[in-house]
Amino acid sequence: MDLEKLRKEFAARLDSVRNSNDLEELRNDYLGRKRGILTALLKEIPNLSPDQRGKAGKEMNEFKRLVESELEAKKSLLEQPAKLEVTDWSLPGKEYHPGAAHPLTIVRRRIEDIFREMGYAVAEGPEIETDFHNFSALNFPPDHPARDTQDTFFVDRLEAGPEKRNCLLRTHTSPVQIRTMLQHKPPVRILCPGRVYRRDEIDATHSPIFHQMECLAVDQRITFSDLKGTLLHFLRRLFDADIELSFRPTFFPFTEPSADVSVSCVFCRGKGCSVCKNTGWIEILGSGMVHPNILENVGYDSEKFTGFAFGLGIERIAILMYGIPDIRLFFQNDVRFLSQFRVVL
Ligand code: PHE
Repeated sequence: MDLEKLRKEFAARLDSVRNSNDLEELRNDYLGRKRGILTALLKEIPNLSPDQRGKAGKEMNEFKRLVESELEAKKSLLEQPAKLEVTDWSLPGKEYHPGAAHPLTIVRRRIEDIFREMGYAVAEGPEIETDFHNFSALNFPPDHPARDTQDTFFVDRLEAGPEKRNCLLRTHTSPVQIRTMLQHKPPVRILCPGRVYRRDEIDATHSPIFHQMECLAVDQRITFSDLKGTLLHFLRRLFDADIELSFRPTFFPFTEPSADVSVSCVFCRGKGCSVCKNTGWIEILGSGMVHPNILENVGYDSEKFTGFAFGLGIERIAILMYGIPDIRLFFQNDVRFLSQFRVVL
């Protein structure tokens, strides 16, 4: 008795069942008392030799159960109300909503592309940082206001007390400079994009979470004119316009000298408009020459190596590039807002 063949035959018969008459006929052919195939086979079992009997009995009974359950399943399938399978070709097609990159992603990638061409690598670091990487190694004095809980989100247990606080949400992407320099010998050319956190009240221009892009170049004989040349090339490419730059002295603990950089207004070309508040200039980033203390903190020889760094807010660039009126729009994920930036992923 070829069980495999039996199974196949049954499956083929089951497949051709179209209505309850077919089904009844099939049931009779297999399980009918008088001429059922299975009934007959089961009757043969006692005539087999004792050593074949057990195995054959087991297999036959299994097959019988299979037949019964398949017939049941087919029965309930046939009993389902008939569905009208008519295709209405006049119906409108399915609407597809292809994904698009977030405006902050678009700006980040544009900046990365410009710097990649100049030989920079992208470096990333953790968002939960230590006081050392976020502040101390960057030359922040112990009493610097940024270290205050007013400005920084600390993630240590409250009872740790001010002097024991160590973990925080990074307030800028500068700790990635430190991590990279601790791991790599100079020369270093990196771009560090990422999310940063500050305890700011939310309004149209402030958000406790935003994104920065930091740039760091360290090598022998890097000068302030390398910083100026790099920024001019970068910002002309980014805004696709022949902008001019203005450098205004400022202070950062980690750069000396330091400069706030403004671009000539891309909207009014310096004539004065609401975006540049009639000044003709738009402040866009902070920059400077890497403070020798920082090079020493990471084990670089500050007599031999110099470097420049700058940092910018990605939201600020996107706001300017797209004329976005409110920083909160970036974080609400409203499709009506996002779908306006049709750069495919
Ligand atoms: N880390 C600075 C900030 O968050 C930006 C900056 C980076 C300034 C590098 C100078 C050099 O404000």
